[in-house]
Amino acid sequence: MLNLPKKVTIIEVGPRDGLQNEKLFVPTAIKKQFIGALRKAGFLEMELTSFVSPKWVPQMSDAAEIVADCLEADARNIVLAPNRKGIDRVYSTDCQAVAVFVGVSNSFNLKNINKTTKDSMAELAPIIYELKEKNYFVRACISTAFYCPYEGKIDESATINLCREFVDAGVDELSVADTIGMATPDESFSLFSKLKNLFPNTFLTAHFHDTRKLALANILASLQAGIDRFDTSAGGLGGCPFAPGASGNVATEDVVYMLERMGIDTGVDLDKLIDAIEVVRPHLSRKIESGYYRLHAQTV
Ligand code: HMG
Ligand code: MG
Repeated sequence: MLNLPKKVTIIEVGPRDGLQNEKLFVPTAIKKQFIGALRKAGFLEMELTSFVSPKWVPQMSDAAEIVADCLEADARNIVLAPNRKGIDRVYSTDCQAVAVFVGVSNSFNLKNINKTTKDSMAELAPIIYELKEKNYFVRACISTAFYCPYEGKIDESATINLCREFVDAGVDELSVADTIGMATPDESFSLFSKLKNLFPNTFLTAHFHDTRKLALANILASLQAGIDRFDTSAGGLGGCPFAPGASGNVATEDVVYMLERMGIDTGVDLDKLIDAIEVVRPHLSRKIESGYYRLHAQTV
């Protein structure tokens, strides 16, 4: 028998991971409409934007404007911040949930945030302590947890050690990422089973990019390991500009379709999710290629 939860939490990352890698700047007003439409589809946790350098990631240069208009009282409104400057920008908003991000792979971390993994942790550990003192919800995104575009296979023990550093620093959540969509279900099961045993008091979330179309299989394997939180992106948008091969995240609609068909409650309304995708679709430089969306488009 499959080990399945009754309920799964979907963290919608489309407005952040989904749009950060778009070639053209999606107008701020459209991003806000997209977030509003996603809310209507039922997401209670969402990554809204990133307080990163606008020179490095121009798509996220309107972070302050997005946050000013898009915070929802009853939801977890997550914003990313890579460093002290980003955290100070968060402090000037009413946002209460912050995601920091570090790669297990040093080479990736240098490309993504211009620091070694060790130096990033030295900077972030006191920041996390400070955020917790101020009652923020803190999420740590662990990039290249399985494979790195520059270093290849990552040792499971290296990923576990970095997760432990974050847990010791006091984070509430670990979002563990297959950044370039290369993990296989056995690797996902192995890592998430261990993390679940080691860190029973930390929210554990799986973040799969779908480069090789293995994400749904990885989600099923992660469910077997006891994971019931998944980062997904409406329309399967997404990718990290500094990780060649990081094509889109697993599409929210495909995940919701699979889980709901299996009797697992996601709280997401698929029709309203499609409405949200339609808000942003005309402004994208790529096609929406998720299985659920394509079938839906053929039938309307
Ligand atoms: P740097 O150039 O080394 O930064 O970039 P610096 O500290 O030397 O500062 C240089 C300039 O940037 C200064 O401005 C700073 O004020 C400014 P200047 O004096 O030249 O005018 N600056 C900032 N401005 C706004 N916000 C900030 C900020 N920090 C410095 N926070 C930095 C270092 C970290 C800023 C840069 O590398 C950066 O922004 N990287 C972000 C990359 C990124 O967003 N990647 C995608 C998100 S991670 C991801 O997608 C993976 C994930 O989905 C999981 C997975 O799938 O793996 C989460
Ligand atoms: Mg990602």
